Amino acid sequence: MSTESADIGLIGLAVMGQNLALNIADHGYTIAVYNRHAEKMRDFISQSKKNEPSSARLLGFETLEELTRSLKRPRKIILLVKAGEATDKTIESLLPHLEPGDIVIDGGNAHWLDTIRREKDLNAKGLRFIGSGVSGGETGARFGPSLMPGGSAEAWAELAPIWNAVAAKVDAQTGSPLSGAAPGSPVAGGVPCTAHIGPDGAGHYVKMVHNGIEYIDMQLICEAYWLMKNLLGLGSDAIGKVFQDWNQGELSSYLIEITGDILQQPDTAGDGFLVDKVLDTAGQKGTGLWTASSALELGVPANAIAEAVFARSLSALKEERVEASKLLQGPETKRVEDAAALIAAIRDALYCSKICAYAQGFQLMAEAQKIYGWNLDFGTLAQIWRGGCIIRARFLQKITDAYAIDPGLKNLMLDPYFRDALHRGQSHWRDVVALGVRNGIPTPAFSSALAYFDGYRSARLPANLLQAQRDYFGAHTYERTDRPRGQFYHLDWPAEGRPQLQA
Ligand code: 6PG
Repeated sequence: MSTESADIGLIGLAVMGQNLALNIADHGYTIAVYNRHAEKMRDFISQSKKNEPSSARLLGFETLEELTRSLKRPRKIILLVKAGEATDKTIESLLPHLEPGDIVIDGGNAHWLDTIRREKDLNAKGLRFIGSGVSGGETGARFGPSLMPGGSAEAWAELAPIWNAVAAKVDAQTGSPLSGAAPGSPVAGGVPCTAHIGPDGAGHYVKMVHNGIEYIDMQLICEAYWLMKNLLGLGSDAIGKVFQDWNQGELSSYLIEITGDILQQPDTAGDGFLVDKVLDTAGQKGTGLWTASSALELGVPANAIAEAVFARSLSALKEERVEASKLLQGPETKRVEDAAALIAAIRDALYCSKICAYAQGFQLMAEAQKIYGWNLDFGTLAQIWRGGCIIRARFLQKITDAYAIDPGLKNLMLDPYFRDALHRGQSHWRDVVALGVRNGIPTPAFSSALAYFDGYRSARLPANLLQAQRDYFGAHTYERTDRPRGQFYHLDWPAEGRPQLQA
């Protein structure tokens, strides 16, 4: 095997690794691949030789030494291994084979603090590190993912040609995704769904928030489905058609589209629709939890995102819920007669809640950048999420537009377009949440998003009482509405002037 012939290397040939390797080869780059278990690499190479026109540009290696020897300098090596310990171990085993200037690119769902640490460690050894979010699942990796790289600008400059080539593309004017290419015929033109997000952990932080938004987007869709099923008695296929219809309008998105498909999928192993037989317990790998806990740490009220994580946790208590359903009673669910009206109301509730969810995600990133010294470009972030990634949606163009109008926008809900949408939809949104409450149908994401909207638009909240309570039992002090901010008072509670309690 000739040395220094490959443009880039990739370690980790699970589904994402294999697909990204093929995508890179499709775009004319020679890629050297390695997997800890060599058999997987051999299988991948031999399968690709049978099916993939670009397989001549795939080079398989059984040792890291051979892999690194095959790479052009400075070497660029993508890691697509399990986030966490496996990433550290892989880097460690790679180190003896690297030279100053080489670039390690972690494409896993790494915790941003790990990315910051890894970059520091590698920089100290003269190496460079990029933590890149990769979104879009298997198909995205194969035909165009959304890529969120963080690291030094000069390391990014080395990687940019490849990342720009393999990323999904959107139309420069409309932001519409350009259709996915068949293998070997990459999409030409368009704006790539990747950009330098910022230094060190910025890319992985943004990818984490993407996932937090993914969680709430999915939960909102599930609540819409559940309301239609329980209040209208619609079958899965009929609900699937509603989602198909919604996908034609402002809700158009990948998740709405696949929901339409999923709901209409017959059960190939029995009668009816598959979704009705899927066990109602949701898994999670941790990125939603990280988003929620980062929001808690930074004091950002991302309650709807956190609620989506809790909804998964509650769903996982299957046995307990089955027991509780026999012991705890709620109201009887009453059918709603006017199906068209309810479907329209749910659609509005979904759209308004979605605006709140994205507002929370962007607030979180705005706060995080202050702590970590990033300078995120929110319009660009929304644009690189327009194609390739799991939360890709028509709606994101409106976010790009909002930040183009006002780069310092404090909260997405304040942008005129989103403000109008909230004003138009809120009456339906409230009806839907109330219907859920009255009928005992849980709508944690719709409800918490609405509470966020109502809280954010309240000039006054009952925190006056809360602060007084804190001062009463803990002398935590309070500010007064009739005195300048920043002056703190304490009362030795209970004090004079209070009516005497009757014995
Ligand atoms: C993506 C996804 C992906 C994520 C899965 C599973 O952008 O392609 O976010 O990175 O790992 O969606 O996440 P959960 O297992 O936590 O649902």
